[in-house]
Amino acid sequence: MYHSALKTSLCGMLGIEYPIIQAGMGFVARGELAGAVSAAGGLGTIGAGTMTGEELRQEIRTVRTITDKPFAVDILFSTVAGRNVAMFSKDVEDHIEVVFEEKVPVIASGLGNPGPIVERCHQAGMKVLSLTGNTKNAVRLANSGVDAIIAQGYDGGGHTGRVGSMTLLPATIDAVDIPVIAAGGIADGRGLAAALVMGAIGVWLGTRFIACSEAWGHDNYKRRIVEIDDEGTTRTRCFSGKPCRMIRNQTTAAWEESTLRDQLKPFPHQMAQVTEWLGEDPYMAGRRDGKTDIGALAAGQSSALIHDIKPAADIIAELMTQASTALSRLG
Ligand SMILES: Cc1cc2nc3c(=O)[nH]c(=O)nc-3n(C[C@H](O)[C@H](O)[C@H](O)COP(=O)(O)O)c2cc1C
Repeated sequence: MYHSALKTSLCGMLGIEYPIIQAGMGFVARGELAGAVSAAGGLGTIGAGTMTGEELRQEIRTVRTITDKPFAVDILFSTVAGRNVAMFSKDVEDHIEVVFEEKVPVIASGLGNPGPIVERCHQAGMKVLSLTGNTKNAVRLANSGVDAIIAQGYDGGGHTGRVGSMTLLPATIDAVDIPVIAAGGIADGRGLAAALVMGAIGVWLGTRFIACSEAWGHDNYKRRIVEIDDEGTTRTRCFSGKPCRMIRNQTTAAWEESTLRDQLKPFPHQMAQVTEWLGEDPYMAGRRDGKTDIGALAAGQSSALIHDIKPAADIIAELMTQASTALSRLG
């Protein structure tokens, strides 16, 4: 029996048992992981960013072979001109059509503003969650009508902003009048309890769910997360051209010394530059082939809190037990 404070409004909003969302993560978060998390009572999320529309459809169907519980799809709402939110890229338009056709219950936006489709989502009974790294963007997203903001601090894995989670969460709660979900640096039940005490309605966890049996990725990648400590990651523009938290390795170190930094191409063209430099695709080298010394391995500072690789259901049970203990300690 878990602490009653863990039954938050997020559970009612999304129809889930526990206030834990597994983050959308490019490559890593596919149907198998999302299905396992949702089956265990959290909300699993498919990271659509690296998929075609048809690949996304297959992953959605995989979730449905595992569970009939709610799950989410995370779409990176990149735009054609980079500014005009009314013109999403072709990939994004494909993802949008698939989530409507497949009647996905929750969508998350990891990048950009889903504003132009929020009303259509609500008419279809979908909830919309939007990720931000600062309060200014949180206000913009809240004004677009989304249902909740995910405030992801500097500590988090993957593309990340400049504001630490400990400041960003309460600042975002103060800045918007819709619910806020905490992200960045949370990997155990103490972080979950702390986020709720600070006013969040739930948590969005990435890195903890990489070191997970059902996550897509080479075992070396998962093991490296278990091995590294609190200084084992770095926020670098090395791979995508945008600040992204990655596991430190030979490539991130070489980048620091490199004159290539001065010829930085903008996101997403950076990738081609680094691929040429390394002689192979850094994402595939790291996540698929397990070359942890050179590959692009996104992970957060919360790697320091992760000591094992285990099934999603065990991660969720542990988070809930630890959070219950932490909340009980408060009296
Ligand atoms: C491997 C990896 C890939 C990620 N890819 C995406 C993505 O495709 N879309 C997105 O919204 N966020 C992405 N993120 C960020 C996560 O959604 C999440 O906000 C972050 O991992 C939370 O911090 P944590 O890693 O400390 O839990 C990624 C993070 C990681 C670690």
